[in-house]
Amino acid sequence: MTDRANRNSSSQWQSSIGFIAAAAGSAVGLGNIWKFPYITGENGGGTFVLFYLLCIAVLGLPIMVAEVMIGRTSQSSPVRAFQRLSMGNSWWQVVGALGVFAGILILSYYSIVAGWGLHYLLLSIVGGFPQDSNPQAYTDLFDSLVQSVRLNIWWHTVFMGITTLVVLRGIRGGIERFANWGMLALFLLLGGLAIYGTTLPGFFPAIEFVFGFSDNFTWKSALEALGHAFFSLSLGIGAMLTYGSYLKRHDDVVGTSIAIAIADTVVAIGACLVLFPIAFSVGLEPSAGPGLIFINIPIALLQLPFGQIGLLVFFLLLLLAALTSAISLLEMAVAFFIDSLGWTRTLATSTMGGFIYLLGIPSALSGGEGFFGAGLRQILGMTWFDAADYLASNWLLPLGGIGISLFVGWRLNSQQRVTEFRDGSRLGSWQWLYFLWVLAIRWLSPIVIVLVMLYNLEIL
Ligand code: PHE
Repeated sequence: MTDRANRNSSSQWQSSIGFIAAAAGSAVGLGNIWKFPYITGENGGGTFVLFYLLCIAVLGLPIMVAEVMIGRTSQSSPVRAFQRLSMGNSWWQVVGALGVFAGILILSYYSIVAGWGLHYLLLSIVGGFPQDSNPQAYTDLFDSLVQSVRLNIWWHTVFMGITTLVVLRGIRGGIERFANWGMLALFLLLGGLAIYGTTLPGFFPAIEFVFGFSDNFTWKSALEALGHAFFSLSLGIGAMLTYGSYLKRHDDVVGTSIAIAIADTVVAIGACLVLFPIAFSVGLEPSAGPGLIFINIPIALLQLPFGQIGLLVFFLLLLLAALTSAISLLEMAVAFFIDSLGWTRTLATSTMGGFIYLLGIPSALSGGEGFFGAGLRQILGMTWFDAADYLASNWLLPLGGIGISLFVGWRLNSQQRVTEFRDGSRLGSWQWLYFLWVLAIRWLSPIVIVLVMLYNLEIL
């Protein structure tokens, strides 16, 4: 069966709002709420944030337009899309295949971090945090969770179970519906927490930290901002491509991409404006690293008025964000099997859900003393979890980003590129951006991404 035969109106978004919600749901994830605040803290604040915004606008957005465009034009999942648009040149299909592989890999460890969030959500519901505000007790609590095989596997099972159930229900009835409600709830929860943040004594210092200039911005910070912009917008692996393929032929690619990038950025900055006022109000440092939300935030919030409710709201927000991203990762792999092998959705989803679940088990064991944790650290210098993240974030995502830019920039013929860009843009209003967009995907992004990779190889 061909992919066209598999596509009917139920495999298209009901509305463009539904697409924006689902794609913004993919973009807004642990990257925004867990990682962005802590790397902002580590890199000193304001200048890093400004540079990150620049990366989103100048590099991320053009690649997002290119990726969604490939999806919408081909109406196919990643590998098929490249096959179809390159008229059978099989090299380009490698870009799609690498993307599918990256998506599977990312979801396998993403689910473990999301599982920590689930555990903390439960702790906030049952009031299971240490009674005294001794920081060591909170550090021990987090360490014992990361090291616990039983808890990690349990929460991984729950998280992958929910993700699989939503994807099983299909585009309209599952993904779109979940995204519409989930994103609405997410923005309300974030808004509520941001208002709470303004009432805290740490609010003004936090504003200064996030928007003021800082002097410890380095070359390394710049590269970190760039890599994170990619991850945060879910670019380079075909997730946006897959979602774009459920658009109607004449939906607006540029306008919707801008909306998605704005939503993603608002949540990243919003998370900082929630977390830093809380940390500063009890005199904690912003540079706590990956433990920021699991150690410092509970310590701080439980000393503040309404802290218990604040924690509950925060971990609910984290869960929603993680779920909508995980759904897009699973959907990408599922779409590949439906499109390329003609599987049914039920078969593709249960097989891929199960496979990713198994692939995640070594990551679930990475905090412990066994082979995948302490053992691999001795051999490779990093655990299985770290290695999967390193491979996906530092190599596969940027490689996919280059592939997508080069494909749309150089391989599509220019007539098709212009038409696709204009198509669906109401009033032709994005015309003025076309020249800048082509410049970005032809030259700027491939060059900058290669520089980042050379730096990662320690050649630069
Ligand atoms: N963008 C998601 C986040 O910020 C992660 C993600 C990456 C999701 C790639 C899908 C594809 O957490």
